[in-house]
Amino acid sequence: MALLEVKNVTKRFSGLIAVNDVSMSVEEGQIVGVIGPNGAGKTTLFNCIAGALPPSSGSILFDGQEVAGKKPYQICQAGVTRTFQVVKPFATKTVLYNTVVGAFATTQHLHEAETKAIEVLKFLDLYNKRDVVSQSLTLPERKKLELARALATEPKLLLLDEVMAGLRPQEVTEMLPIIRKINETGVTIVIVEHIMQAIMNLSEKIYVISFGKKIAEGDPHDVVSDEEVIKAYLGDEYVATQH
Ligand SMILES: Nc1ncnc2c1ncn2[C@@H]1O[C@H](COP(=O)(O)OP(=O)(O)O)[C@@H](O)[C@H]1O
Ligand SMILES: [Mg+2]
Repeated sequence: MALLEVKNVTKRFSGLIAVNDVSMSVEEGQIVGVIGPNGAGKTTLFNCIAGALPPSSGSILFDGQEVAGKKPYQICQAGVTRTFQVVKPFATKTVLYNTVVGAFATTQHLHEAETKAIEVLKFLDLYNKRDVVSQSLTLPERKKLELARALATEPKLLLLDEVMAGLRPQEVTEMLPIIRKINETGVTIVIVEHIMQAIMNLSEKIYVISFGKKIAEGDPHDVVSDEEVIKAYLGDEYVATQH
């Protein structure tokens, strides 16, 4: 049984079909990539999976349980956590405070939440920044804090929405082993990312979405050589860099 089974999910916003009959399947332990042009519906799909938006139709099974239309906190408690494309920590609060907030998803006890937060910050090499207010962090550090807040909820499935956007190539290179390390602790990951180097490096499988529709899925190398995918998304520039 797949850990996440999205079946024929559609999300309409009045006249617009943002996600159009998308199905995807994610096995436990995988890193799966989702790519597609801006406005393709990637974030909306994450919103449906994580409960921020109810799908208009379709089914979302997590761990065999129907979660479509459930509240975000219920889905989070079931084991699904997402990061946000636009990072939004409490700017004037410390790294530790922000991470403790994440840990309160799984415990009501401050001491336990702090213990969890500290463990996560050490894991992400952010512990030495624990007393820094988040607005003073560098962008790569803020991205790591976003990961820390997510990991503190103890997810089984982590949905990463462009966590590497805005990073310099060198910073992306440093982020890849961190995401891999998270996966190696047993966290299944679905990653939306524009940076192809990152997607190709991390993903076992890729889904391509364009205008709300899934246009390709499969092995990353097969998918990026698919003509429809190149036309819809990658463009000649990407093809040129591969030769
Ligand atoms: N809450 C919303 N209300 C109305 N339209 C939305 C909403 N969220 C997203 N959209 C629209 O849905 C489409 C898909 O957006 P989005 O999921 O953010 O795409 P992506 O993440 O792939 O760039 C876009 O046309 C966007 O304007
Ligand atoms: Mg998006």
